[in-house]
Amino acid sequence: MVRSLGKYPHNKFVVLGSCVGLITAAILTNFLWASTYRSLFVSSAYPRSLTPNMKGERQELRLGVDDEDDAHILEWEEVAEAPVGRLDGAAVQIGNHLYVFAGYATIDKVHSHVDIYNLRSNSWEGSIEMPQEMAHSHLGMATDGQYIYAVTGQHGPQCRGPTSLNFVLDIQTKQWSHLPPLPLPRYAPATQLWKGRLHVMGGSKENRYDPALEHWSIAVDNGKAVESEWRSEIPIPRGGPHRACVVVDNRLYVIGGQEGDFIAKPGSPIFKCSRKLEVVFSDVYMLEPGGKEWNVVPSMPKPDSHIEFAWVVVNKSIIIVGGSTEKNPVTKKMVLIGDVFQFNTQRMVWKTIGQMPYRVKTTLAAYWDGWLYFTAGQRDKGIDDPSPKKIMGKTWRTRLNLSP
Ligand SMILES: *[C@@H]1O[C@H](CO)[C@@H](O)[C@H](O)[C@H]1NC(C)=O
Repeated sequence: MVRSLGKYPHNKFVVLGSCVGLITAAILTNFLWASTYRSLFVSSAYPRSLTPNMKGERQELRLGVDDEDDAHILEWEEVAEAPVGRLDGAAVQIGNHLYVFAGYATIDKVHSHVDIYNLRSNSWEGSIEMPQEMAHSHLGMATDGQYIYAVTGQHGPQCRGPTSLNFVLDIQTKQWSHLPPLPLPRYAPATQLWKGRLHVMGGSKENRYDPALEHWSIAVDNGKAVESEWRSEIPIPRGGPHRACVVVDNRLYVIGGQEGDFIAKPGSPIFKCSRKLEVVFSDVYMLEPGGKEWNVVPSMPKPDSHIEFAWVVVNKSIIIVGGSTEKNPVTKKMVLIGDVFQFNTQRMVWKTIGQMPYRVKTTLAAYWDGWLYFTAGQRDKGIDDPSPKKIMGKTWRTRLNLSP
């Protein structure tokens, strides 16, 4: 088994004062080497974006980021590759199974099935066909441990239109059923089950670009809606797609994401994707049970988008892997990241705990028996070029040791 190498010894140079000659030189060398090495593995040089002005709690950003840089070097090992590569897929974990849905195979071809990965046996155990009308990317998804709720998203390849249809998969019977459609279709809305209700908020509107602020919920029980209509809830302060949406300790968190996205080229018969301005955020919002407004909580160490299924919760920390950050200011190309972030929800503090084997967005994460996993996504061009290229099916894991 491959283990983490433990804390990087960069605190060594504090003993400098009592040393002379050779020892000083040796320690300086170590320090210089350590600085170079750390900058390769722990990139914390990005500017931190500002939180918007709004009502509710507001904390100084510095309070929320652990500047004491004690990132581990994560050792990754490759495990069983998925049957297909996918970009913009969706995933939920139930026990030792990761259910991996849909996604683009290429920009012109989308998947319409679910692959099932057994984390315990490290094997891909068959697949389930999806209903034809169900979206193929940009879905919202959540699970209660038996039923998987799949909402809205894009139907078809390239930059095609969204559907407002919602589906439920019973993992015992592998049968699909319906939920009432969303009031309006959305691309990549933040989605989570919270206190017996399925919540769907944000995302992009029908043109794939305009950020939506609306927040709806519907009561669900045993895979069925127990109300006939979606109910309006407290709109989120900032709309847009590709955010992580997580419940920890009965609090609902919405993390990162972006405003804007590729749109269909006007008049294109294949809805060819064309690029428009996107702005990526590090903002984190939190709603407490019975809360009347969203709280602003400490921002991520970097702006991060395409993370809707790139998170796990371990010991009340939210772990987020990879994503896309602010574009290159010169080339305007998308910049992927390979950081592994931890948000300790008890201390309300973020830190970067290590790096992935490559930078990757829309990767799908899981946690099992001490191991952090990710599969799928679109990776970088290479170590020197963080812009997106290959759509992946590879699966990786690393030992996770969170300091308390
Ligand atoms: C979670 O907490 C338990 C109990 O303190 C500890 O044994 C375990 O190692 C922690 N998990 C990780 C991934 O750090």
